[in-house]
This record gives sequence, C-alpha cells and structure tokens, in this order.
Amino acid sequence: MTQHFLTLLDVDASDLKKIIQRAIELKTMQKAGKAYAPFAGRVLGMIFDKASTRTRVSFETAMAHFGGHAIFLSPRDTQLGRGEPVEDSARVLSSMVDAVMIRTFSHELVERFAEYSSVPVINALTDIYHPCQLLADVQAYTEQRGDISGRTVAWIGDGNNMCHSYINAARQFDFKLNIATPPGYEPDAAIVAAAGDRIKLSHSPQEAASGADLITTDVWASMGQEEEQKKREQDFAGFEVNQALMALANKDAVFTHCLPAHRGEEVSAEVIDGAQSITWVAAENRLHSQKALLEYLLNS
Ligand code: CP
Ligand code: NVA
Repeated sequence: MTQHFLTLLDVDASDLKKIIQRAIELKTMQKAGKAYAPFAGRVLGMIFDKASTRTRVSFETAMAHFGGHAIFLSPRDTQLGRGEPVEDSARVLSSMVDAVMIRTFSHELVERFAEYSSVPVINALTDIYHPCQLLADVQAYTEQRGDISGRTVAWIGDGNNMCHSYINAARQFDFKLNIATPPGYEPDAAIVAAAGDRIKLSHSPQEAASGADLITTDVWASMGQEEEQKKREQDFAGFEVNQALMALANKDAVFTHCLPAHRGEEVSAEVIDGAQSITWVAAENRLHSQKALLEYLLNS
C-alpha cells in the first residue's frame, strides 16, 4: 500500500516522532553547510488550488536541496482546472512523478486523488486539515522547550483546519489541548470525540490559556471565507491572544501562529513579535520538517 500523508493519523505515532527528530537533524546538517542530495532525478508535483507562500517555497526548496525537482501546478493552467476528473489526473500524474502535494478546498478530493495515485500524496491544506504545519509546530516546540508529550496546548480562535490538525496532534504526540472558540465556531464534533478526554472545549480564552505551555491561534476567516470577515470580527471579539492572555499561561509558555497573521485581530503585535513567540522558528521549520516527511514517504 502506498503511504500517504493526508492527516497526522496516516502515520504511526512512533514514526511521527522519528520524523520530528529527523527534521531537527536535517536542520542541523543544513546549518552546518552539509549538502545532502539523496533524491536526484526525483520529482514532486505540487497542485495549488489556494494561495500559499510558505508551503510552496518550503516544498520547492526542499526538493531543490535534495537534488530533485518540484513542479508547480495551478488549476489555471492544468486540465484539472478545466474539469478533468481527479481520478484521471491522479493516475497520469502519479505515473510520472514520485510524490504529489495538494492544497485545495475539499478534503474528499485529496482522498480521491490518493485512492487513484500510485505515489505518496501529501495534504498541504484542505478546508478540514493542515497536517504539514503541525510537523513544523511540534518541531519548534521540541527545539525550544523539549518533548511536547504531557504538555498543555491552548487553541484560541476558530475551530478550523489548523484546530483539527492540533486535535490529531494531541492524539499522536499525547498532549492536552484546551480549545476556546466563540459559540458556533467549534471544531468538528467527530474529530473532537475521537481524541477522547485529551480535549477540553470552552468558549473562554482565559480558561483555555490557564496553565498552558503553548498558546496558538490562526486567522478568524480562512481562505474561502473572505466574505465572512466582517461578521467574524464581531463574533471573535475578545479572542485576541494578547499579553493579558499570555500572562495566564505557564511561565515558560510560548506562542505560535501558522501565518499569515492579522495583528490586532487574532493576535497582538506585542505577542507575535515578542520574546515568547516561536512563530518564526516554526515557519522556517516547514522546510526542515517537510524534508523529513519527503524522505520518510519516498523511502517507505
Ligand atoms: N502556514 C502556511 O501554510 O502558509 P502558506 O499559506 O503561506 O503556505
Ligand atoms: N486556516 C488558514 C490557514 C492558512 C495556512 C486557512 O485555511 O486559510
């Protein structure tokens, strides 16, 4: 069976931990100027149905460092964008490239693509999940504060794709997750239920932040929800992660944001640009952790 990475649950918990350790190792190697190019002639296809800065640049750079190549595929220029069935696209693309990365709206489309793909498929964000960001976030926490297992993470904001991937991460990396959303913006009930008593839901950012080791948030309106921005600004009033909220967390707590961020909405400038923020470490780690992921998938 082809090993895909559509959610964090697709890879064994023990292998996920190895991927994090390998990411730290690959980062050290790169900083030391050591060239490592195990994938000469290997090609990653990258389908982007939504905008991206970090995801595109990190995957493309990862393949370049590895001696391979990445192809950027936009629906504007491919037959997929003109309605060619996803099954046909999957069969043909996977007969040529060594792995495919997809960022799109429907998670079900990525599942269907994977079903017909003969090579590993990586979910680079859907409306439901964003597992690649979690590899980078867990790597950053591990580097800055040690093992995340047994720690408490607070998710403050929308019960969105990032929130769902934090829930899966809580299962796989064994941490507690306090989620605070405004009423009506809770994460998917089935995803929450499957994670058991590790997850605590509330509508109080203060309650979620209390005793947290890591506080994280994301934009209030995700890609595809732009027209809801104004309504969401009202509904999310009081959900800004600011110094007052950070003060409720543990003393050595850190903050991260997957980016792009809206200062003055979901996070204050003071927090994201402050001493407790590991946001920039996590952003850089997209490169290192996805290298480790590519190595794992292409070698399995
Ligand atoms: N965090 C993240 O996935 O960033 P991009 O949308 O820039 O890829
Ligand atoms: N929740 C955000 C994450 C962006 C990386 C979105 O889907 O737009």
